[in-house]
Amino acid sequence: MRRPRTSSLAPAAALAGTAANNAIAALCAVAISCAATSSALAQAVERFGNPARFAPQSGEALYADVCQGCHMPGGVGAVGAGAYPALARNPKLAASGYPLFMVINGRKGMPPFGKLLTDDQVAAVVNYIRTHFGNEFQGAVSAADAKAAR
Ligand code: HEC
Repeated sequence: MRRPRTSSLAPAAALAGTAANNAIAALCAVAISCAATSSALAQAVERFGNPARFAPQSGEALYADVCQGCHMPGGVGAVGAGAYPALARNPKLAASGYPLFMVINGRKGMPPFGKLLTDDQVAAVVNYIRTHFGNEFQGAVSAADAKAAR
């Protein structure tokens, strides 16, 4: 028995017409990449492509929602497909301008979150990581500081 060369789904897709195509196009636009794999990075891109995801306002909730996927619970960092530096007991967080810069602009494997977070949210998550995970740095940043760092 010969197998048809085209997918058996093709006629159904053709019947569904442009509505299905539009839906697929919309999904692809949201996901940024239609070639999304199961890799953590592809998931991150899908997730971070949608600013509506970042509703939380508290530093703790923002950390859990936005940062923890890479920097891990407790800020312990991870090494695997990429290297995600530990934020726990990290002396580089002493100067608040550095984490502000990183959250807003990103660098290499760290995505920029400046357009996805408000000034209040940037300040909240920076203050959170500077005062948790064994970090006890003084001098909370304000929304105005976040705005000035953009
Ligand atoms: C998609 C993964 C990913 C996410 C999500 C992510 N980071 Fe990062 N982060 C990285 C990587 C990778 C680096 C190292 C960048 C480099 O090599 O320059 C980094 C570096 C940092 C640094 C500098 C650490 C150092 O020791 O130099 C800070 C601070 C930081 N991230 C904070 C955050 C915060 C806060 C969030 C959430 C708002 C966050 N990151 C979300 C991947 C991520």
